[in-house]
Amino acid sequence: MTRKLKVAVTGLGIGRSHIEDGFHANSELFEVAAICDRNKERLQSTGDAFGIERREQDFEALLAMDDIDIIDICTPPGTHRDMILAALKAGKHVICEKPLVGSLADIDMLLEAESRSTTHVMPIMQYRYNDGVQKAKHIIDSGIAGKPYIATCEVHWHRDAAYYEREWRRTWEGALGGTLMNHAIHLNDLLFYLLGPARSLFARMATRVNPIEVEDCASISLDMKCGALATISATTGSIEQLSRLRLCFENVTFESDRTPYNPGGEPWKVVPANDDIAARIDAALKNFTPPPARFAGQMREFHKAICNKTPLPLTLADARQSLDFATACYWSAKTYSAVALPVMADHPFYNGWQNAF
Ligand SMILES: NC(=O)c1ccc[n+]([C@@H]2O[C@H](COP(=O)([O-])OP(=O)(O)OC[C@H]3O[C@@H](n4cnc5c(N)ncnc54)[C@H](O)[C@@H]3O)[C@@H](O)[C@H]2O)c1
Repeated sequence: MTRKLKVAVTGLGIGRSHIEDGFHANSELFEVAAICDRNKERLQSTGDAFGIERREQDFEALLAMDDIDIIDICTPPGTHRDMILAALKAGKHVICEKPLVGSLADIDMLLEAESRSTTHVMPIMQYRYNDGVQKAKHIIDSGIAGKPYIATCEVHWHRDAAYYEREWRRTWEGALGGTLMNHAIHLNDLLFYLLGPARSLFARMATRVNPIEVEDCASISLDMKCGALATISATTGSIEQLSRLRLCFENVTFESDRTPYNPGGEPWKVVPANDDIAARIDAALKNFTPPPARFAGQMREFHKAICNKTPLPLTLADARQSLDFATACYWSAKTYSAVALPVMADHPFYNGWQNAF
């Protein structure tokens, strides 16, 4: 049954974009009925801009609102786990920003809490809904691309002292990691979305760009389960910024746009091996319409999942895979060793990788 779901959004940095691009863009499906932020100015400006009357500075106040269906958590990463647990306990559905939590132990705790609950948790990975990556996925899933050979994933951004004025962004406790967890996470997710999981990796990490606790340079070599090889390169020290994914398949080479902050968005370069492959791609794309982009697409699918009891577009299991990858990366960087995935519950970093190096 379709009905309008009532949302409370907490954390009004990126949370403001959730309201505008995710919920207001789907105003027939959602009503943002309450907002919460410790910062009074953000609370007032967001409330005024979107006509939201209920404004709270204390997260607990949202839990007590009986009419709220969904709590959307957009606060710093270090706050996510306890907020998600509290929201599930209060019987709310949960949407939560990346990185979801900071260890496999934490995600297993959330999986257990969700299994005991009648409500669900959806991690945010809005760039999966971008048109370029959707097109590439459609071609790959149609079987046209053939055998995957190799991929590169570059997230070369620039961050200076002004960005790190927010203390949480500098620390293991606040950010749960550095450029791997907070910046490269989106494009890495697209790599795994298109190629499937890794079976082993070797990672190097360093803090070279800013005086922060967490890593700001990462170089990772992956052996993917599908047989392809992949390389990830991430930094916050690139004067010219870009996000770029290249994938070489037997019959097609894909190259994403290089706009830094719109991973997965068109234009993508799709290079066929010959005229026959080009014709098959044209035929596959003829009636293909990508979903609405980014937050609009992901929130729309979430509404469908809750109201029609269809599978969630992104799940805690997806987040677990991403945390498995992160655990392996930090352990590899600490020990200078190759790490096989998945990581087991008796792994030294199962409970977290804070202060990994
Ligand atoms: N999906 C994306 O593209 C994307 C982009 C940017 C940030 N993020 C993620 O969103 C989260 C927030 O990042 P940001 O850049 O908006 O941070 P931010 O520091 O700009 O905003 C966070 C807000 O949360 C508020 N806050 C902190 N603790 C709170 C609490 N206990 N109760 C209520 N309010 C609280 C702060 O006052 C602040 O206004 C992070 O997890 C970040 O990684 C995701």
